[in-house]
Amino acid sequence: MSQRFEGKVTLVTGGASGIGLAVARGVVEEGGWVVLADLDAEGVEKAQAELGPQASGMVFDVADEQGWRDAMACVESRHGRLDALINNAGVLAEGSIEETDLATWQRLMRINADSVFLGCHHALPLLKRQGGAIVNLSSIAAIGGKEDYAAYSASKGAIAALTRSIASHCRRERYRVRCNSVHPDGVMTPMTAATYPAGVVPADYTIRQDPMHRLCLPEDVASGILFLASDDAQAINGIELRIDSGQFVMSI
Ligand SMILES: NC(=O)c1ccc[n+]([C@@H]2O[C@H](COP(=O)([O-])OP(=O)(O)OC[C@H]3O[C@@H](n4cnc5c(N)ncnc54)[C@H](O)[C@@H]3O)[C@@H](O)[C@H]2O)c1
Repeated sequence: MSQRFEGKVTLVTGGASGIGLAVARGVVEEGGWVVLADLDAEGVEKAQAELGPQASGMVFDVADEQGWRDAMACVESRHGRLDALINNAGVLAEGSIEETDLATWQRLMRINADSVFLGCHHALPLLKRQGGAIVNLSSIAAIGGKEDYAAYSASKGAIAALTRSIASHCRRERYRVRCNSVHPDGVMTPMTAATYPAGVVPADYTIRQDPMHRLCLPEDVASGILFLASDDAQAINGIELRIDSGQFVMSI
């Protein structure tokens, strides 16, 4: 096993579940320190127990600015550095433009997009000290036209555009901080299961072993995120990495 994160500190939002937890496992397996930031206190405690002493947790709402100020102060006093920020926490809401009300739109923009703005804004001072990486979780919904996910698609589109702006800002300022976005299609996580009746993912998806014809696994997405967060991607800045087994190219 390579040790790409040895001596490094990575903060993963939404680290108590799904893709975030898979990223946290990867960081720890590769010798790094991981800070799990999540609203779900019980989930954070469970994840920490699984991951061991290289993991620590912080419970806060990533859409709350004071939460980020406190989190950065805590990372600084605990570790003295931050090498990677994975802005992964997010929520899904179904609804076309006709079905979506303003409250849903604002909730999605707050949790999915404001949170990424706040995370990047408050983490950059620590990241730029020694250089590092930001990976923002967008979605295939930001690239294609997902008719039943109007607010979700817009919130993920904001993340993609912000990512490109940060990437070029950091390059211009010579910060040695890279910023990239990741765009999965369906991934087998509690978020996806919740969209199926009774939370059951159709057997059709789960029994297929062929990675090109089933929902992605959290580990499939985590491996792309870990690559972008590591020095293996040291010349990669401002890209949109699709992780969808080619679903998108098949649909155009
Ligand atoms: N699952 C998919 O099919 C899929 C596809 C494309 C993109 N994504 C994106 O990947 C990311 C992770 O999704 P997942 O499937 O692992 O979801 P998940 O529901 O399994 O995990 C999301 C985590 O985020 C946390 N969270 C939610 N709101 C929060 C808040 N305000 N503050 C702090 N923590 C909060 C939850 O407690 C949870 O632990 C999301 O941004 C999602 O939009 C997921």
